[in-house]
Amino acid sequence: MEFCLIKPKGINKGIIPKSILMGIKPAEELGNPFSYGKAVSGKQFINREKELEELKAHVKSGKSVIIYSSRGMGKTSLLKEFFRRLNKPYVPILIDMFGTPSREILARTLVENVANSVYGTLEKIRKSLGDFLRRTKIDMVLTPDGKIRFEFSRTPVQEDISEVLDLPERVAEKHGLQIILAFDEFQEIRNLDGEEMEKLMRSRFQHHKNVVYIFTGSRRHLLDEIFSEERRAFYRFGRPMELGPIPRDEFSRYITDCFERTGGRISGEAVERILEITGCHPSFTQQLCYELWFMSRTVEEKSTVEKAVENIIFHERIHYLQIWENLTYLQRRLLEGLAKEEIGPYSMEFISKYGLRSPAHVRKALKLLEKRGLVEKNKISDIFFREWIKRGMP
Ligand SMILES: Nc1ncnc2c1ncn2[C@@H]1O[C@H](COP(=O)(O)OP(=O)(O)OP(=O)(O)O)[C@@H](O)[C@H]1O
Ligand SMILES: [Mg+2]
Repeated sequence: MEFCLIKPKGINKGIIPKSILMGIKPAEELGNPFSYGKAVSGKQFINREKELEELKAHVKSGKSVIIYSSRGMGKTSLLKEFFRRLNKPYVPILIDMFGTPSREILARTLVENVANSVYGTLEKIRKSLGDFLRRTKIDMVLTPDGKIRFEFSRTPVQEDISEVLDLPERVAEKHGLQIILAFDEFQEIRNLDGEEMEKLMRSRFQHHKNVVYIFTGSRRHLLDEIFSEERRAFYRFGRPMELGPIPRDEFSRYITDCFERTGGRISGEAVERILEITGCHPSFTQQLCYELWFMSRTVEEKSTVEKAVENIIFHERIHYLQIWENLTYLQRRLLEGLAKEEIGPYSMEFISKYGLRSPAHVRKALKLLEKRGLVEKNKISDIFFREWIKRGMP
């Protein structure tokens, strides 16, 4: 490894923007106690005690875990909260696979994370990291916001990537640490030379004793292919864990509490209606509550909840229309049925009511809709999209 510190011109080390030092203000301080669209932890994090305990137990046993859930169910939040509660000798590292579109970026991100989490300072990194990356040519860069970044000085080849993949294990072993390395949205690995990269990762990870791996993903069928198909490198590599909705009572208490501590009030009836619509899905519930609180601090009637749903649908309608325009006639009819009916889509009543021809046609259409992330387990994934269809696409 070659270290050369490239210091961009014009950096005043002493001045780091206040917003970076302070972090982004929680929604609460800005007013609305509800938050959606980005992972939550700490005070805004509800429940998941069982899952947190389970994760802790697996990590203690050195067992890797695969967390599945549909979008917005709270995978990243769970990881963040889990990591927030960890103490030494555990060192958490979170890598978002959406942000690592190439092998090179993944390797660079991994080095950066290990360097910053384990060593922290420039001097320590310079002194220590070189022992572990002997062949990899990588430079350290100090960014204008005072962060340490790495850049390969030549395109990394397979041996360089292998060396980087072994870095967490070697660093953890040397310093008596236990690194927990989480790959969020791991299915995105398919964009990094696909199965070749999986093979390489597996071939390194299987020897690691001081690193526990956590993989999360929201595209069930893609994760299933990676971890459940016998021919794939990661076959049965970790313990699967499915994340479901948040328990009703807990969510109900949280919603009531949020309204009350911001000087408002919400009736039990309205809370019931919210959770009935969202099925206690964390992201949709927070989104609906955000809208409600924004509309009114005092919510008595169920009809106010319906109005909040209409507002959300109104803002999203262009997006929904774009999706709709790209569907076939049969897929649209099937979605209509799924939005409006209680009965299963394979029943003859359903098929004839929506002109779906046969169970085989339903199966094929469902599969395609699942692949596009619009349907999961025979239900429309986005509950507001579902309400938009149910209400006649206003
Ligand atoms: N434990 C929780 N307590 C309160 N709100 C939560 C919790 N988990 C998730 N949420 C809500 O759901 C939203 C989505 O959470 P998060 O980003 O963690 O989900 P995700 O499963 O990682 O989603 P994606 O599949 O889009 O990456 C958050 O912004 C928050 O509003
Ligand atoms: Mg996420």
